Amino acid sequence: MKYVKSLVCALTLSAALIGAATTAQAGPREDIIASFGAGPGNAAMGKIMFETNYGTGKPSTPRCATCHTSSPLQMGQTRTGKAIQPMAVSRTPDRFTDAAKVAKWFKRNCSSVIGRLCTPQEKVDYITYMVSQ
Ligand code: HEC
Repeated sequence: MKYVKSLVCALTLSAALIGAATTAQAGPREDIIASFGAGPGNAAMGKIMFETNYGTGKPSTPRCATCHTSSPLQMGQTRTGKAIQPMAVSRTPDRFTDAAKVAKWFKRNCSSVIGRLCTPQEKVDYITYMVSQ
């Protein structure tokens, strides 16, 4: 009986610990990722997307890197020379935490670079890459 009691106690404790770990991870960025309803993010695919020369959108913006530079750690620049904070979450911690902002810029930038909207999977891969940087 004593054994069962300590087992129950251990199970309760690990459930509490797992619960705490999950709570620590959840946040606006995780909610935004989940809202796309895509599969798990793939950082390598996000990197490819960031660097690809699409050539299917506006000729002046063939790549995401045209404005964001080829390093997510660097400051970027708009076509008119306005500074853009780095995409990497390690450099700009509030990246991808405002759902309206994320939606607005994916829509605008995917349209001008690729000539179409990004798929939910592309968005999740892109964010996953930036979280890993
Ligand atoms: C014409 C320049 C330009 C290009 C090309 C561009 N972006 Fe951006 N992007 C911006 C600007 C300007 C902002 C808004 C300022 C900021 O967030 O610092 C932004 C912001 C974003 C955001 C919002 C980030 C956040 O903090 O919520 C996402 C997502 C994004 N871009 C994705 C992309 C993707 C994906 C591509 C390529 C398909 C791309 N961008 C190409 C200029 C550009």
